[in-house]
Amino acid sequence: MSIKPLLSGMEQRSSRLVASLFAAAALSLAPQVAFSQHEVDTDEGSQGPVKINGNENAFGYSQMAMMAIMQELPDINRYAFEETMELIDAIAMREMVPGDYIMPTAGSGPVLVMAAMAYAAPGKNVVSVEPGYTQLIRTFEKFGGETKLVALNDELEYDLEAVKAAIDENTVMVYLCNPNNPTGTIVDPDELKAFIRDLPDGVVAFVDEAYLELSEGGLEANSMISLVREGEDVILARTFSKVYGMAGLRVGYGVMKPEFKKKLSDFHMGGPNKLGCVAATASLQDPAFFEMSVSSYKSVRKMVTDRLDELGIEYATPHGSFVFMKTGVPIKEFQALMEAENVLVGRPFPPMFDWCRVSIGTEEEMTTFLSVFEEVMKGQGKL
Ligand SMILES: Cc1ncc(COP(=O)(O)O)c(C=O)c1O
Repeated sequence: MSIKPLLSGMEQRSSRLVASLFAAAALSLAPQVAFSQHEVDTDEGSQGPVKINGNENAFGYSQMAMMAIMQELPDINRYAFEETMELIDAIAMREMVPGDYIMPTAGSGPVLVMAAMAYAAPGKNVVSVEPGYTQLIRTFEKFGGETKLVALNDELEYDLEAVKAAIDENTVMVYLCNPNNPTGTIVDPDELKAFIRDLPDGVVAFVDEAYLELSEGGLEANSMISLVREGEDVILARTFSKVYGMAGLRVGYGVMKPEFKKKLSDFHMGGPNKLGCVAATASLQDPAFFEMSVSSYKSVRKMVTDRLDELGIEYATPHGSFVFMKTGVPIKEFQALMEAENVLVGRPFPPMFDWCRVSIGTEEEMTTFLSVFEEVMKGQGKL
């Protein structure tokens, strides 16, 4: 039996009041949570590892989102109909597309999975790159399709000519992750637009912009959203897990024309929950958090690459929330050496088995990383 029906009207009002008071109290704590999470994680005596393996946001998330969650708590016995509509409206306004172009999901991963399920079929293929993000292509294979993976160029960037050359009469989709995960490199926006406009009929461009807010020039300079607005065959995915710091809440979305949305909807398994919806809507109305997050990422990322330059370590030009660097040590071994010093770094990304992806954490975390990194590299005779 649920507790809610047992509460009288007065009790329900007072539970809402308690939630609001709780929200106010939480808000007074929020600056510590949002801006000094590291102090909580790495206080003297803390045994917690430095977690820079999963591209999570170490700078917290919006206080306005936190307050919206607190205020919504008494109502989570209800479905998220209204809150989903409000989120769709907020996203549509941000992307400058009609509401029926927006598909909110539990993280952006489901957009990738749905697209793969909708387009995969025996004999059909998706073209992408290696190393790259594999969620869409793995699902495409599971559902009977084939994948054609193209190597990156010497700068570890997309080689659009090579991607184009891999497209054949059985290609139904090109998966473009921009910035690419794990390398963090981006594609010149004009070249990418020309490439997409030039795709053969029947080939959909799936553009995954999970980290694009952190690129030089940001969404304004680099997003492919204008092609969606123009009606091109593009499916674009975005997430609240990265720059907005809400990975654990699971909110993301796809932007695409309604005919594509209808095709993907056949595989929809549920949208974001009520707390995720209100938090995401509130995040979009909190430019202060967004700017703090972007500028923190960029300044700590630069601190890391400056040091790598001094050490003479090779890395791909990073435009996301991580840096991909050459250690020269087999990645499994390198992970274990770092973990022994309480620093968790990224997994293997075939075929670059002596490179490592390191997520950007707080300045303190990355200072710790850099000193452990130096020791480990010296121990391996690489410095
Ligand atoms: C490139 C890329 N796309 C999509 C995702 C999916 O993330 P989420 O489902 O949390 O939005 C990730 C997660 O790391 C990613 O790196």
